[in-house]
Amino acid sequence: MSGRLVIAIDGPAASGKGTLARRLATHFGLRHLDTGLTYRAVADALLAAGAGLDDEDQAVGVARTLGFDRLDKGRLTRPGIGEAASRVAVMPRLRAVLVSMQRAFAEAEPGAVLDGRDIGTVVCPDADAKIFVTAEPEARARRRTLELRQFDPGADEAEVLDDLRRRDARDMSRADSPLRPAPDAYLLDTTDLDIETAFRAAVEHVERVRKSRR
Ligand code: C5P
Repeated sequence: MSGRLVIAIDGPAASGKGTLARRLATHFGLRHLDTGLTYRAVADALLAAGAGLDDEDQAVGVARTLGFDRLDKGRLTRPGIGEAASRVAVMPRLRAVLVSMQRAFAEAEPGAVLDGRDIGTVVCPDADAKIFVTAEPEARARRRTLELRQFDPGADEAEVLDDLRRRDARDMSRADSPLRPAPDAYLLDTTDLDIETAFRAAVEHVERVRKSRR
């Protein structure tokens, strides 16, 4: 039997899933893929080429040439790209290409932690452990604003909250792979949890499911 371990982390924007995924990958000695960056990279390339964010042929062409080890996080997390990414992410043919590349990443030894919106439901439905990370929108907007203020002291919390709500609504209502917890996901609400407590709860969950499968 393979010792491969795959952990799927999903949740809305700024729920803390990225930090959690990175820490779990380090803890369990796995590779990590932030799948949001893959949608952001496609949106960024379309914007740079002056193409429409609904140009599916061009989006598919860009996706096929993406190198997951060359995603420029600094560039792809600049303001506005999250919103553009959620607009390209409604296109089914684009999703199909990115999902198959993400699945290939997850399937290589020794396994991986992937975070996104559809990891437990679509990309890795057979993941060993699935965690759905949530937090109240106000708590998420507060955290995201504090992050942004390191680079932009004028970042406005009300605008950040509006942006998160708009993105959540689009991500939850799209026809293809909407954001929702897998039926077998462990729900982790981080509204009142610091990262250390959330991390410990996630590790305990992964250990529990691993033991129950042995
Ligand atoms: O996680 P992040 O905020 O970087 O994701 C940007 C956008 O990419 C999300 O709002 C969502 O529309 C899309 N996305 C997706 N499926 C994923 C990851 C991200 O649709 N697995």
